[in-house]
Amino acid sequence: GKVRAPTHIISTISDDRGEEPCYAGVPMSTIVEKGMGVGDVISLLWFKRSLPRYCTQFIEICVMLCADHGPCVSGAHNTIVTARAGKDLVSSLVSGLLTIGPRFGGAVDDAARYFKDAYDRKLSPYEFVEGMKKKGIRVPGIGHRIKRGDNRDKRVELLQLFARTHFPSTKYMEYAVEVETYTLSKANNLVMNVDGAIGTLFLDLLAGSGMFSKQEIDEIVSIGYLNGLFVLARSIGLIGHTFDQKRLKQPLYRHPWEDVLYTK
Ligand code: ACO
Ligand code: LMR
Repeated sequence: GKVRAPTHIISTISDDRGEEPCYAGVPMSTIVEKGMGVGDVISLLWFKRSLPRYCTQFIEICVMLCADHGPCVSGAHNTIVTARAGKDLVSSLVSGLLTIGPRFGGAVDDAARYFKDAYDRKLSPYEFVEGMKKKGIRVPGIGHRIKRGDNRDKRVELLQLFARTHFPSTKYMEYAVEVETYTLSKANNLVMNVDGAIGTLFLDLLAGSGMFSKQEIDEIVSIGYLNGLFVLARSIGLIGHTFDQKRLKQPLYRHPWEDVLYTK
């Protein structure tokens, strides 16, 4: 019989050996003919299945809303400084991407993890928030540098509106709203941020779509797929900032002395 040589790599998401490449078994031509979008491609390559239209639309809205947030945020700042140091596109992009983490844009997975755990254990917002405080952990998905209780993040409101209109259930996000009500009673900057909105709404998408088993949801949350949405989205803006600096022929950046407190 045939002898199969052992392989060094296993891959399950795409195949380029046939007449045309396939994403999770779906040929390129079908993707184009059916007018699929980036949300469908993300569904195929990340979740290995086609998701209903409202889910792929939600994914695309996340990508569009997180594509950029101006030049002052950590990621754009790094990218701008790197581009002005004469570095190439990829260097400028990754320099910005490297700032994505627990404080900036990379709190989506932890928001999903902690809010899911708290909701599933039926913790009241008080028990959840005070429990986190005792452990010395900031609640991921809560807090913002410039957004406030009286100046909410429009992106969060748009995501909430879309989900309340199209999702079968928004129970995890509504729990996060209750948590936000409690944190806002403590300080005005402790609003639900875009990471918290995406993290909890993605839990609702996974649980409500009927497309994922409980075990698959646990795996997605524990591996941490969701920061990928912010990384992907913000890459669009960071690439834009790189082109902007090159187009403007900006010189090497040097931070002004006046803006540094030199002290012993
Ligand atoms: N949970 C509990 N308490 C908080 C939180 C939080 N998420 N955020 C701030 N606080 C409280 C703390 O008491 C903090 O005091 P501490 O420094 O002793 O812990 C106090 O508010 C003041 O916090 P600041 O450090 O002034 O807040 P800052 O404006 O610097 O932080 C930040 C903003 C980094 C977003 C913060 O709120 C945080 O860590 N949030 C959790 C991580 C997160 O969700 N990041 C994503 C932000 S959205 C985005 O990047 C796209
Ligand atoms: C962002 O999307 O970059 C922000 O929410 C962070 C910020 O401070 O504006």
